[in-house]
Amino acid sequence: MMATEKVLHMKGGDGETSYTNNSLLQRKVASMVKPILEDTVKQLTSNFSSERCWKVADLGCSSGPNSLFFVSDMLSIMDKASFSLNQGTPRALQIYMNDLFGNDFNTIFKLIPDFFQRIHEEKNDKHVRCFIHATPGSFYGRLFSDDYIHFFHSSYCLHWLSQAPTSTDIAEPLNKGNVYITNERRPSVYEAYMKQFEKDFKLFLKSRSEELRSGGIMLLTFIGREKSQNMTSPWGIIGMVLNDMVQELDLDLVMSLY
Ligand SMILES: C[S@@+](CC[C@H](N)C(=O)[O-])C[C@H]1O[C@@H](n2cnc3c(N)ncnc32)[C@H](O)[C@@H]1O
Repeated sequence: MMATEKVLHMKGGDGETSYTNNSLLQRKVASMVKPILEDTVKQLTSNFSSERCWKVADLGCSSGPNSLFFVSDMLSIMDKASFSLNQGTPRALQIYMNDLFGNDFNTIFKLIPDFFQRIHEEKNDKHVRCFIHATPGSFYGRLFSDDYIHFFHSSYCLHWLSQAPTSTDIAEPLNKGNVYITNERRPSVYEAYMKQFEKDFKLFLKSRSEELRSGGIMLLTFIGREKSQNMTSPWGIIGMVLNDMVQELDLDLVMSLY
């Protein structure tokens, strides 16, 4: 197993600097995608009209409330769809929360009782039943058995690579001294990160293609970037400031942001 998979995780708990309290941007991204989630549910309803239970995986769920916002969105969209389409959406959802091994799944588990209570009160027991499971492991590999999942969802995760790319012809770390690839860097650095992304994404798609039921759907939202971004982009400037701070502390900057 690669080291990144073992050590990478968002800051757990619910303290001031935790992911729980610093993930509004990701929540906003999920809200922007909600109309596509609505269309997806409609499509799933027609593809699996006779299924009583959908198996849904949220890949890279992290540890904050965003993971349950996704479940809540799914439930309300399904309730609405079953009413407006006058067609049976399934009566149960099995949700698999996936993230890396070091993820703070306990923070999600602790939110579940209040979440269920709220759903129960709001919908007066007339709602899709929901069962929540945790599936630790890297989405750059198999997570489920063959033909198992009806719907894969992943928001704001797939730009995380499985590892920082390495180079055989350059001795020092590829993007040494920088947390962001600007076009002031060697083109080979850009190419190396691109190649790593291609390799990872291919493995992701191969794994999901084996796990997805025929007629199943994936909804993947992730960040892209302009090839031409230069030092004056916000990330380039943040990188320069971080670099200065590290120099002041007389540390060696080995950090690489993917
Ligand atoms: C920015 S968070 C997004 C979390 C959540 N989906 C949201 O919208 O708030 C990215 C998550 O992807 C997870 N992640 C990164 N690489 C992963 C991998 N190979 N397998 C599973 N999860 C991964 C990280 O641990 C992190 O929790």
